[in-house]
Formats: sequence, structure tokens, C-alpha cells
Amino acid sequence: MTRRDFVRWCILGIALAIAGTVPRGAAQQRSPDVPYVPTPYEVVEEMLRMAKVTADDVVYDLGCGDGRIVITAAQKYGARGVGVDIDPRRIQESQANAAKAGVTDRVRFLEGDLFQVDIREATVVMLYLLPDVNLRLRPKLLRELRPGTRIVSHDYDMGDWEPDDIVKVPGPTYQHTLYYWVVPASVEGTWRWSLRTAVGEGTFTAHVRQQFQKISGDILQSGGPRAAITQGHIRGDRVSFQSVLNLGGAQVPVQFEGRVTGDTIQGQARLLEGSMAETSEWSARQVGHRSTKPTGS
Ligand SMILES: C[S@@+](CC[C@H](N)C(=O)[O-])C[C@H]1O[C@@H](n2cnc3c(N)ncnc32)[C@H](O)[C@@H]1O
Repeated sequence: MTRRDFVRWCILGIALAIAGTVPRGAAQQRSPDVPYVPTPYEVVEEMLRMAKVTADDVVYDLGCGDGRIVITAAQKYGARGVGVDIDPRRIQESQANAAKAGVTDRVRFLEGDLFQVDIREATVVMLYLLPDVNLRLRPKLLRELRPGTRIVSHDYDMGDWEPDDIVKVPGPTYQHTLYYWVVPASVEGTWRWSLRTAVGEGTFTAHVRQQFQKISGDILQSGGPRAAITQGHIRGDRVSFQSVLNLGGAQVPVQFEGRVTGDTIQGQARLLEGSMAETSEWSARQVGHRSTKPTGS
């Protein structure tokens, strides 16, 4: 190698090393997890109907394409909307479409990775991604979204988080499937309450397990056998379950229904046996561990 070649190689090496430290621009952002395929407008309409979108909602579309879902939500229902897309061309299209539709005061579009964006203000989340992307996104949805937030996914489910509803929608080329979930409150842990009814009273300690919107577990009661929690369900912040409890020496089936606020549930307990049918106020307090992964994700 001549001295001139040696100097050339040194200069090239230094240039490559400097290039490696230069921050990557938007055009070089990582490639999308899902290709761009727009949702047909008739399916968009049904997604918004399914989520019961109103002017009070903040609708997020994670992977928003040309912005049609949040723009339609703003135009038709007066909702506010946020679209996120990793592809700068999609964001430009979305902004142009929002301007044409006259809704720039209600919607905004963020260029970025849907896994990185803060989604805590959403009351509705729309998805048209892929099954494995939905599964990777699931822990973030359960961690960041508030109980009661509605999620609609076009064509793909969320694995063992069963949907609360499914709708089939005829499209121009095939029949689309929409999946709907309501983010459940987290109730896993130990709860305690006292109950006073016409047939008797007692103090109860429930150990509650939670798998997404389903709850199970058992209830310890003074003077009675351990009782199972059956038909346990949470929709948003509304919890319901049944159990057979020892009240005044009798085994009485009881239906519980209440609203979760932090470490308290307030609601009603209804005795289910005909002659004893009666409703009492019910208030339970969480006294033990709350799972950091709220719902089995
Ligand atoms: C199937 S299209 C859906 C578009 C739109 N939501 C609709 O239903 O018409 C998926 C979109 O997700 C975007 N995307 C893929 N991976 C992404 C990521 N990691 N972060 C943000 N957007 C992403 C793509 O650029 C594409 O526009």
C-alpha cells in the first residue's frame, strides 16, 4: 500500500466512524411493523359505531394511515382524535385530509412509533395491525389505558384476551371482522367487607384472581366453608360475581355488583333465593396486593 492509499483509507475510515455517530433522521426511522392497507369507509363507520364514539371521546388510531378513522370520528361525531404513524408520507396525507375535511382543530397526527407514544388520554383506541403486533401492544394497552377505555381492532384479535363483542361487516372484497374490548379495572388481590342482611350478617375476605375481564377466587367467611367466586366479570370499572355465603347459619346465593374506584368497590349485594330476595348496600376494601400487571397480560 502506498502512502497515498494509506491516507485515503484513513480518511474513509474516519468518515464512516463519524457517519455512525450522526443521529438518524425521520426518513431513516425503523421500518413499519405493518404495511399500509386502508380500512374501507363502510368498515370505518362500523368501527366508530361499535365503540359508541361521541363528542366526549379522544380517539387514537395507532398506525393511522391516511387518517380516515380519526378524521371521520371528528367529522361525524365531533370527537377529538390523534393519529400515529411511523411513515412520514402517511402523516403528510393525514394532515392534508384533515385540512380538506375542515377538522384540523379537532385532530392531530404524530409521526412516530406506536409502541413509544403516550396513549393515556385515549378513551377509544382503533387498530388495524397484525396478530403478532396486537399481542406485542397488549401489555401497553392494559398498562396505560384507563378502565372503561374501548378498543376496536379490525380483523385481528388479542390472543387469550377474549373480545367483549365481535361484529362481521361486509366490505367491497371480503367480510371484515371487528373485535371490541373494554379495558377492565384491576381487582386482583385481597378484599374485605361486612354484609348485613335480613337473614343474617357476616364478615368476608375474598382472594380474587383476574385474567383480563374474568375474575375467580374464593371467599373466607366466619362460621362457614370457603366459598367460590363464580360468574365473575369486569367491564371497565363495573365488577360482578356470585357466591354462596353463610348468612345467619344458612347457605345463601348472593349476586354482587359494584363499581371499582382505587381500592374500594361500592355497590349492591342481592340475595338470590326467592323468599329471601333482598338487596343490601355493599362496600368492599382492598387489603392485599394488587398485581402490577393488571389483567393477565
Ligand atoms: C393496515 S394500515 C392501517 C391504516 C389505518 N389505521 C386504517 O385502518 O385505514 C397500518 C398502518 O400502520 C403503520 N405502522 C406500521 N408500523 C407502525 C409503527 N410501529 N408505529 C406507527 N405506525 C406504524 C403503517 O405505516 C400503516 O399506515
